[in-house]
Amino acid sequence: MPQARIADASDPEAIMEAARIIRKGGLVAFPTETVYGLGAAAANEAAVARIFEAKRRPRIDPLIVHVHDIESARRYGTFPDAALPVMERFWPGPLTLVAGKKNLIPDIVTAGLDTVAIRIPAHPAALALIRTAGIAIAAPSANPFGYVSPTEAAHVAAQLGDAVDLILDGGSSTIGVESTILSLEASGPVILRAGGTPVEDLQSVLGWTDVHIGSVLRPSVPGQMKRHYSTLTPLEIIEIPGRRDAAPRMEKQGERIGLLTLSLMEDASCYTAVEILSPAGDLREAAAGLFRALRRLDTLALDRIVARPVSEKGLGLAIMDRLRRCAAGD
Ligand code: TXA
Ligand code: MG
Repeated sequence: MPQARIADASDPEAIMEAARIIRKGGLVAFPTETVYGLGAAAANEAAVARIFEAKRRPRIDPLIVHVHDIESARRYGTFPDAALPVMERFWPGPLTLVAGKKNLIPDIVTAGLDTVAIRIPAHPAALALIRTAGIAIAAPSANPFGYVSPTEAAHVAAQLGDAVDLILDGGSSTIGVESTILSLEASGPVILRAGGTPVEDLQSVLGWTDVHIGSVLRPSVPGQMKRHYSTLTPLEIIEIPGRRDAAPRMEKQGERIGLLTLSLMEDASCYTAVEILSPAGDLREAAAGLFRALRRLDTLALDRIVARPVSEKGLGLAIMDRLRRCAAGD
């Protein structure tokens, strides 16, 4: 299969071409501020089916619908009154809202649920693409199902390059973890996936004290499967046992171990490779580079990766969520 062309996302001609491909039922990988998406016309059942095939994604895992303004969001979903201040404050941005599904959205997008997840991405190229296409774009992260999400065009080209019609290159995703998914239940707000919008921001901006985290209420949403966002190399999260004896025990002679850490707090001489996410300990910077670091470690034929836990404040909650899913056994 031929490799997809990579076009510069800041080129208006490339946006026009991408929009034409979407309107004709094709697949376009495009940058967002969170991760790269694999987009197709949300109302086109056959086009959406191609997304599932390209990713080898089970049909039971629903997609997020991307729009460029609040009015369009309302064309596809029914939102509770409490959603308006959230949309006005956090869109465009790394927040997805769960709404009642309207008929324009085919069942394949929502995996048969009567709700639909909708967001307005903040990346200018994503907004330009959606606006130019003039229709909503369904887009999961542009990675094979279960693997680490892409934060660069090259990540998409390497794994899905033969399955998409065009890749728009808009540089590295600045947030680096997927959107926060929020459901506004009658009983109160529930975070279904920790992500690029910190819970603290939702709480402080909206004055909420009672945001529930985790999908206890929705254990059936498949994107919340335990093992996900995973490297092929086994990964474990291990607290530094004590500065001086921080090195992990070698299970066999010459074991190749990679270290993933926020900042370097230990003697790293026993590691084959080290990825430092933020020397200054900044969780935003760490989130932005997390998936790139995981991918790099995964190319080094390591026996395993040791990840040091980070504080679960701000973007740290999303970072720990991704690391835990990566570490979870099949
Ligand atoms: O940042 C993001 O959200 C990225 C970019 C491309 O926008 N997209 C993304 O999509 O992460 P994906 O497909 O990798 O994750 C979508 C997840 C599903 O796995 C599911 O957990 C949740 O969104 N979801 C989708 N529809 C839902 C619904 N109706 N109710 C609850 N959760 C839903
Ligand atoms: Mg994904």
